[in-house]
Amino acid sequence: MSKPTSNGGPAVRRKVTAPSVRARKGGEKITMVTAYDYPGGRIADRAGVDMILVGDSVANVVLGYETTNEVTLEDMIHHTAAVSRSKPKALLIGDMPWMSFHVSPEETLHNAARLVREGGAEAVKLEGGAERVGMIRKILSAEIPVMGHIGLTPQSVHAMGGYKVMGRGLDGARQLIDDAKALDEAGVFALVLEGVPVVLAQVITREVSVPTIGIGAGAYTDGQVLVMHDLIGMNFGHYPKFVRRYEDLAERATGAITDWISDVRGGTFPGDHEAYHMVQAAADQLVTEFAERSNKVGGPELRAVR
Ligand code: KIV
Repeated sequence: MSKPTSNGGPAVRRKVTAPSVRARKGGEKITMVTAYDYPGGRIADRAGVDMILVGDSVANVVLGYETTNEVTLEDMIHHTAAVSRSKPKALLIGDMPWMSFHVSPEETLHNAARLVREGGAEAVKLEGGAERVGMIRKILSAEIPVMGHIGLTPQSVHAMGGYKVMGRGLDGARQLIDDAKALDEAGVFALVLEGVPVVLAQVITREVSVPTIGIGAGAYTDGQVLVMHDLIGMNFGHYPKFVRRYEDLAERATGAITDWISDVRGGTFPGDHEAYHMVQAAADQLVTEFAERSNKVGGPELRAVR
């Protein structure tokens, strides 16, 4: 929610942009949360996050797939467009799905442009290190801001041999530092560090000129990101140890629907105030005309509600 101003009115939030995020390196912590649909976008933006990521985690948490590699560019455009219709003040970032930025720089640019033009994304994110620099440069050449993502990159699940913390050994750590620097030099405006040791995230944060956004990377990054459904307790999958669950919405939503079932079965839903009525004279006339026949059928007595 927007903070009130000194005169008591709600503060008008400035639109967050890629350059404004870039400029916050080392300043107040940056927040990013995922969203996959219109209400998700509204809720995240009302809460005041700086960035909304339409992550390919939509695969697991919303679409019920096993891995993120199952979502397509069409899926990502569809979900990004839904969030975009919430018109967030937060920067809206569309995630590039697996195989949408691997074939050629031209195809990569075309796909990134579709996320912007059809999905309403204001920036794109893609996974990978130095090997992605050519693709990133091509996207940047069309003035589309790019966020990098290194460490535990879920699209590489098969190559990594599972979801593993990356950079635990010295060689792996050095490789990730080199990757981070390569992406920084290529021109990303921010860099997600996922599933890396705290000290490595701290080193990378000091070595690069752009903000680092951590997830499972400890407290020393320039910002933090969480999957919304993890944060609010709406994920039916595995909760990694780095997730702090602030709500248990799945439990609360189940409780709400259970209560409704019980009210319907117990005859207390809907109440008269939750239904539409005729003008009294017309209702009385209708009851008079049909009462005798209708009451023979059985069930509750036909009556004009007053
Ligand atoms: O898809 C996603 O949700 C992500 C975040 C975890 C960074 O990539």
